[in-house]
Amino acid sequence: MNRNVLVCGGAGYIGSHLCEWLAAEDIGVVVFDNLDGGMAAQARWGTLVTGDLRDPRALEALFAAHRFDAVMQLAGRIVVSESVRDPAGYHEHNVVGTRNLLRAGAAHGAPPVVFSSSAAVYGDPQYTPIDEAHPCVPVNPYGATKMIAERMLADFEVAHGMRSVSLRYFNAAGASASGLIGESHRPETHLIPNVLRAARDGRPVDVFGDDYPTPDGTCVRDFIHVADLCRAHLASLAYLWDGGATIALNLGTGHGHSVKEVVATAERICGRPIERRACPRRAGDPPVLVASAAKAQEVLGWRATESDLPAIIDSAWAWAQRGE
Ligand code: UFG
Repeated sequence: MNRNVLVCGGAGYIGSHLCEWLAAEDIGVVVFDNLDGGMAAQARWGTLVTGDLRDPRALEALFAAHRFDAVMQLAGRIVVSESVRDPAGYHEHNVVGTRNLLRAGAAHGAPPVVFSSSAAVYGDPQYTPIDEAHPCVPVNPYGATKMIAERMLADFEVAHGMRSVSLRYFNAAGASASGLIGESHRPETHLIPNVLRAARDGRPVDVFGDDYPTPDGTCVRDFIHVADLCRAHLASLAYLWDGGATIALNLGTGHGHSVKEVVATAERICGRPIERRACPRRAGDPPVLVASAAKAQEVLGWRATESDLPAIIDSAWAWAQRGE
């Protein structure tokens, strides 16, 4: 019997890539997305239901119309600086929205959940690489909403037997090998798409801070190819369908690259110089964010295999050149 999953946020960057991977595995997909951050053009696989997690009646109708073997919750707001200005909006979308979804799921058979969490749950790193035992002390509302949602998932397992895997993404990047979809946020705040747009359009790219306590003075991040993220989601589904218990796992590579390194690698791949504009530090950016990826390997048998920086930038460059 073919399995059927609900992908909330399936029209967004990571959600749309996940749908492509699920469809390739012959898993039925229903996308639920308010098309706020997501785009209908990216929801190319499965059935698109346009709706908002803040609307319990829409969720009730959704669960009444379909039987889901799992729920994948990738919907939400994702811009840290915006969360500082609008905490209520972030709690509304990311916490209340997730609560509504879990409540509807609990009333309809309590399917297992794969939740899109973030390295932002850890706050300022106390050591590196960060493992899952690192204290969760988020330093902005975005990270707080992810932490609260993880906590809520633990509570739902106790009350309703709804098991879950929370995947704490480090820096997702790259585009699908099919060339059909890629990373396009509105507005775009992420480093790699901004560097590549600068290369494409012959503009300078802003470098936020060059006086960090890192080898070259710029921030260091653990970039993970969206294809590797998708494979981790599939492995999480297999784990849950096999009866696995609720768990939170980092998704990263264990290796960091600086902002300067990203720009230099992009120059090589794009075959042109990219002008850097030195800007002040961006509020809330930790100097170094690198994952320990050991637990995901141990629990899911997963590790990143496509996440070397040139490969990520190469796929993102193919997408950026399409001008989407
Ligand atoms: N940066 C630039 N110029 C840009 C964009 C970013 O210099 O135009 C720098 C940032 O200052 C930072 C690094 O590049 O040092 C990475 O920034 P991103 O915005 O690409 O990614 P973040 O590390 O800030 O954010 C990621 C996720 C968030 C998540 C966060 C966890 O995208 O969703 O990690 O801390 F919250």
